[in-house]
This record gives sequence, C-alpha cells and structure tokens, in this order.
Amino acid sequence: MANDAVAANPLRIVPAQPGATGDPVRGVLAAFTSELVEGVDETLAVFLAAEVDSLTGIDAAMGGFAATARDCVLAGGKRVRPTFAYWGWRGVAGGDEPLSTVLPALAALELLHTFALVHDDVMDSSATRRGLPTAHRAAAARHRTAGLTGDPERYGEAVAVLIGDLCVAWADRLMAHATVPPDRLLDVRRNYDQMRVETVAGQFLDVLGEHDAANWSVDRALRVARYKTASYTVQRPLLFGAGLAGADADSPLIAAYTRYGLAVGEAFQLRDDLLGIYGDPADTGKPAGDDLRTGKPTTLLMLARQLATPAQRRLLDRAGTVTAPREVTRLADLVRDTGAVTRVERMISDRVGAALATLDTAPIDGTARTALTGLATAATTRRA
Ligand code: IPE
Ligand code: IPE
Ligand code: MG
Ligand code: MG
Repeated sequence: MANDAVAANPLRIVPAQPGATGDPVRGVLAAFTSELVEGVDETLAVFLAAEVDSLTGIDAAMGGFAATARDCVLAGGKRVRPTFAYWGWRGVAGGDEPLSTVLPALAALELLHTFALVHDDVMDSSATRRGLPTAHRAAAARHRTAGLTGDPERYGEAVAVLIGDLCVAWADRLMAHATVPPDRLLDVRRNYDQMRVETVAGQFLDVLGEHDAANWSVDRALRVARYKTASYTVQRPLLFGAGLAGADADSPLIAAYTRYGLAVGEAFQLRDDLLGIYGDPADTGKPAGDDLRTGKPTTLLMLARQLATPAQRRLLDRAGTVTAPREVTRLADLVRDTGAVTRVERMISDRVGAALATLDTAPIDGTARTALTGLATAATTRRA
C-alpha cells in the first residue's frame, strides 16, 4: 500500500527504470522512501498547522500569509534532502534507532529547501514550480484580484522574499524538535550553517554569471552547481544525517559521504540543467527553456559554446535574447547538435560511477549502502 503510494507519485525518487520485479535496490528504496516521505510530510503538516494557528491568532492576514507559505512547503516535491539525510543517518545508526527522534531535523531540510526555491524563482523570474504558479506570481495575482494598490509584481516579489524568510525561521524552529543529545545537535548545526552559507553564496555566483559573460567557463558552471545545489541537496544532508547519529567528523565514513555527495549532487544539477531545457513541464512542474531565455551560463550551455562551429556559436550567442517558443526550441536543438547534451550525459554517468566506487569501500550499514547505490542513479536519471 505504502509502496504503491510512492510508485504512484512520479515526483518521489525511485529508479526510473525499475528492472526486474524483486530488484533488491528498488525494493529497499520503495519501502524506506515511503516510510520516510510519509513521516516527513506528516511532521511538516503537524508543525505547520500549529504555526499557522499561532499567527492567525495574532492577525488574520498574518495567518493567511503563513498558510500560503505552508502550501508552498506541502505542494509536493521529491523530498530529496530528507531522503539523503535519512540514509546518512541510517548508514551510521543501523536499523535499530527509531526514526521519530530525528524526523523533525530531516523535515527541517525541506523547509530550508522551500526557502531556496521560493527565492530562486524570484531570481530566475520563473512562472511555475511543482506544477503551480510560483509564489511571487501567485501573490501578484492575489494583489490584482483583491484590488490592492501599487505594482502587483513588486508586491508579489516582496511577499515571496518574506515567505522564504519565514521558511528559514521555521526550519530552525523545527530542527530544535529533534530529540538528540545537545552536543550532537551542536555539531549538526555547524554543518547545517555551512550548508546554508554555501547555498546562498552559490546562488550569488549563479546570479552573477548571467551578468558576467567575460568570466564564463565550464569550471565556473561546475562550481556554481557544487555550491548552489550539491552542497544542500546531497553532500551536506548526508553529513547532517551522519551527525544526527553521532558520527565522528574525522571518520572515513564522512570522507566517503563527502565524495559520494559531491559527485551525486553535481550530477543532480547537471540533470536539472538538461530537464530545464528538454524536460516535459508536465513531469518537472517547471517551465522548459527558462535557461535559454535568460542565457544562464549552465555547464550545458558552456559546453555547447566550446563545441560549436563558428556559425553555431553566433546562433548560440542569442541565448538570453530569445522569447518566442519557436526560437527557444531552435536553440535547444542547436545545443543538442553541438554534442553538448551527450557530453553532459557522460559527465553525469562519470559522477555516478565515481560515487558508486566510493560506496564500495565505505564502512557503512548494508541497507544504507544498497539504498545509496539506487539513489545515485535515481536522483540523476529522473524525469522530474
Ligand atoms: C530543485 O530541486 C532545485 C535544485 C536544486 C535543482 P528538486 O528537484 O529537489 O525540487 P523538488 O523539491 O522535487 O520540487
Ligand atoms: C536551484 O537552481 C538552486 C537552489 C534553489 C538553491 P536552479 O534555478 O537551477 O533550479 P530550478 O531549475 O529553478 O529548480
Ligand atoms: Mg536558479
Ligand atoms: Mg531556478
């Protein structure tokens, strides 16, 4: 029943190509992913209901604002960060520890993620997220229908900034609900703080890139991917989980999680770059072609520019100026024609290969090894 719920939801991470029935990797992932995702969603729902009630008690409009933030958190999503944090924890703790002690901390990562997404959509001027209007667009629409005064777009962006801020504050509050010894929580906080710093600084580098063509390179695009995404999506969630289980920061397991996490995290963003152009919005819940419309210097675009003939290069330089869907499609085809898509696919599989090699020798609980093996592929060959 629970496994069916996971399989029925295309946004949850299970391998895209399931293989034979009884495949042990899929079995482990489906069983544990459903328990975890249900636990995270339930924890978030209970926590957020109390937060919304508390703000509603002060002022109805503040309660409405909190309810909007809650809806962004609960609007779906694959729950990738809690999933990696769970396996990071489980890899150290083994199967005997009750999940309930750490569940609030795992769920807090999802609040941090909502903050990142809501602000990211303002920065990227994105129209949809998880199949719905982005927070800033929805708030602008409410401004119009309510007949408020002033500029609806500016109002929408201000509200989205505040929704993101509220989610960070909520993340801190929920994390403190974890019932782990305080000294352990202090170590976890140190890693968590570094994760936040890296994400924000990585996002800055991403924004700068769109305005800084003189410094474009594949290396820089990969640095952006590592800091804006790999850090808070895979690498540090694994360390966060390991810290919750009391792992020693100098242990070989932490070194293995770091290598695996950076490789899979970068591959996750490389897949996101491909899906952002060639994915189906019905699967991704996000618009296709935004990166070409804004001329974002992703690894994909950087490679396309390197591989292009002079004539192709002149056409590629139109990225950032095109708006008509037909022109965006033509650019997407051109990027593919340069061979850049094939190169990015190879970069993804190289990283997955390196991550799996790391797991082979890591001192880790057997079930967690099986799950992380499956997740390396599932997180990087996904359609959503
Ligand atoms: C999207 O993350 C943002 C990136 C860091 C690439 P996800 O692909 O995990 O988004 P949801 O949570 O499933 O919507
Ligand atoms: C997302 O980067 C990174 C963070 C949210 C921190 P992108 O802008 O590439 O992700 P999507 O494609 O909008 O989800
Ligand atoms: Mg972005
Ligand atoms: Mg974006």
